Amino acid sequence: MAVPDEPRTRHATLSEEILQHDYRYYVLADPLISDAAYDALLRELQDIEAEHPELRTPHSPTQRVGGSITREFPTVAHDIPMLSLANTYDEEEVRDFHRRVTELLGIEQVRYHVELKLDGVALSVRYRDGNFDRAATRGDGTEGDDISANARTIRSLPLRLRTEAPSPAELEVRGEVVMHKSDFAALNREREESGEKLFANPRNSTAGTLKLQDSSVVARRRLHVYMYSLIGSVPEVSTQHASLEFMRHCGLAVNPHTRRCESIDEVIDFWRTWQEKRDALPYEIDGIVVKVDDFRQQEELGNVARSPRWAIAFKFAARQARTVLERIEVQVGRMGTITPVAHLQPVPLSGSTISRATLHNEDFIRELDLRLGDTVIIEKGGDVIPKVTAVVREERPADAPPFSFPTDCPVCGSVLQRPEGEASWFCENLRCPAQIRGRIEHFASRGAMDIEGLGEAVIDALVEQGFIATYADLYALSVHREKLESLERFGSKSVDNLLAGIEQSKSRTLDRVIHSLGIRYVGQTVARILAGHFRSLSALEAAEEDDLVRIDGIGPRIASSVIRFFQNDETRSLVHRLHDAGVTAESDTVVGEDHPFFTNRIFVLTGTLAQMTRDEARAHIERFGGKVTGSVSKKTDVVVAGDAAGSKLDKAQRLGITIIDEDSFLAQLPESPQQENA
Ligand code: IVH
Repeated sequence: MAVPDEPRTRHATLSEEILQHDYRYYVLADPLISDAAYDALLRELQDIEAEHPELRTPHSPTQRVGGSITREFPTVAHDIPMLSLANTYDEEEVRDFHRRVTELLGIEQVRYHVELKLDGVALSVRYRDGNFDRAATRGDGTEGDDISANARTIRSLPLRLRTEAPSPAELEVRGEVVMHKSDFAALNREREESGEKLFANPRNSTAGTLKLQDSSVVARRRLHVYMYSLIGSVPEVSTQHASLEFMRHCGLAVNPHTRRCESIDEVIDFWRTWQEKRDALPYEIDGIVVKVDDFRQQEELGNVARSPRWAIAFKFAARQARTVLERIEVQVGRMGTITPVAHLQPVPLSGSTISRATLHNEDFIRELDLRLGDTVIIEKGGDVIPKVTAVVREERPADAPPFSFPTDCPVCGSVLQRPEGEASWFCENLRCPAQIRGRIEHFASRGAMDIEGLGEAVIDALVEQGFIATYADLYALSVHREKLESLERFGSKSVDNLLAGIEQSKSRTLDRVIHSLGIRYVGQTVARILAGHFRSLSALEAAEEDDLVRIDGIGPRIASSVIRFFQNDETRSLVHRLHDAGVTAESDTVVGEDHPFFTNRIFVLTGTLAQMTRDEARAHIERFGGKVTGSVSKKTDVVVAGDAAGSKLDKAQRLGITIIDEDSFLAQLPESPQQENA
């Protein structure tokens, strides 16, 4: 069926407009419209594509949410190999490089183009007729993996080049994919909460993310890409500087921190500047890349083995420092996990003074053979928390005592346990004051109930004075108002604020409430999945292990942890007390995964669906944070009409509501293996 002119034209205009806004946002860092206005454009495009699926091309801006599953990444050959760079940490070697370059070229002066060396994962991207065609990893330099489905989800990678920039029929560009330090830290926090293995640094998490099979997970990880090489020749582009300008003009994101240098001293100055400033960037860099700017000179210099003679990576000194281990403190987390923390002689390290570092667990200390008084090497990776990476044996004092890990909880004195298969020791006493405080802190934290005015110090005071022993006690605090006001640290104003903060938290959404309960392995992401599925705390409480494991994203370990939480009389009664106190835990705000078509929209299902039941359709909608209602009104966003749809369809038509058929509905869903079999 041919698509009428009007939606076709509107679709083209919208696509172009969105492309233009992406360019303003990602390339120029100068957006013209608000995020909400941008979302509205994207949504309109989604609607048009829902009605006219023929308009949905692989390079439409709607194709960012991912969803396709790649079982095995096909191998692709790089026609032009992806080389690596010679590297050095040493200023003298950079001067040697300059000497070699000038000698080989037989000239005195060379212009260099210097760029940041982004510490991520190299990516090669091919465009055909201006459209995204393929993205591949470096692999061994000759052959890499085709990771197109995952690369498509990277917002700063245009799926279509700007039409203002006439580009060759085939264009290949290369660049670096990075994850912002803040996103990396958040990802690791989430993984820690759900008991998953942590990534060592943002580069590893970027590499891991690009090789995920499910591209919708990739989409949520928010990767960024910056292009640094234009492959093949483009008329009038004869320098590295011009090639970056050209790529930028095409709509490709190029890192803005570059300099053209007329002397090697200027290059070294750029290196020094960024060695100092690197912590201020949102992503990791590990040095600078020095490139001969002129392409003809580059060609003349050529390559040696696997790297060009015209470029060198000038790396920053590792962020390491030496200091002395003064003592080891053993901390008790809210789940009872025992974590040893090194107290160090304060030492400056890349912009801050370090006096503590994590030692993870008993085995970590044993493997390092760490002793009190040892001189240690500490390192700062992508994480802000420094790590002890080595012991300087030669410096060990003769009488340095080995550390004996405690057998009893340092806070409550109960005997520590190390369950089989666990790396950590645990304090299993639920009444341990450290755990009590930790659980309440978690409950009140930003990602959970977000209670203003309830920070660590206030919690400590309230627990110490016996006002609260569980998070449920918070909702009865108001009866102690007078006593609170008479406490040293509280004035009547701060008590008011605290009580108001607690009152406000009663209306937090179900996913936050589930997260705040402190169920082991249930972090923010898992809490969202559970909220999207069960829609109420009582439904979650009533769930059987079988119901839980059947949910996408919930494994047996999480399932049994949830079951244990609700089987335990103490924890179950806490949940009931929250309910009785007026914590509503409503689920009709956004829960589940974000999806541009479903999230926050109201759907009506009508008529007979042929390929799924109504319940299945509802589950799909709710999984992505949409809502299903029974009748059509002005508030309805989309009507899904099956066969023999009657009055609801008529009403939707009268009200001008978007109506889609079953096929268009299915087309909105991320591809999944079940669907292929259906
Ligand atoms: S140019 C032949 N420029 O560093 C030159 N590389 O071994 C190819 N990198 O694999 C690389 N930032 O992934 C270049 N501004 C930049 C870079 C950069 C990061 C990475 C790249 C490459 C590695 C060097």
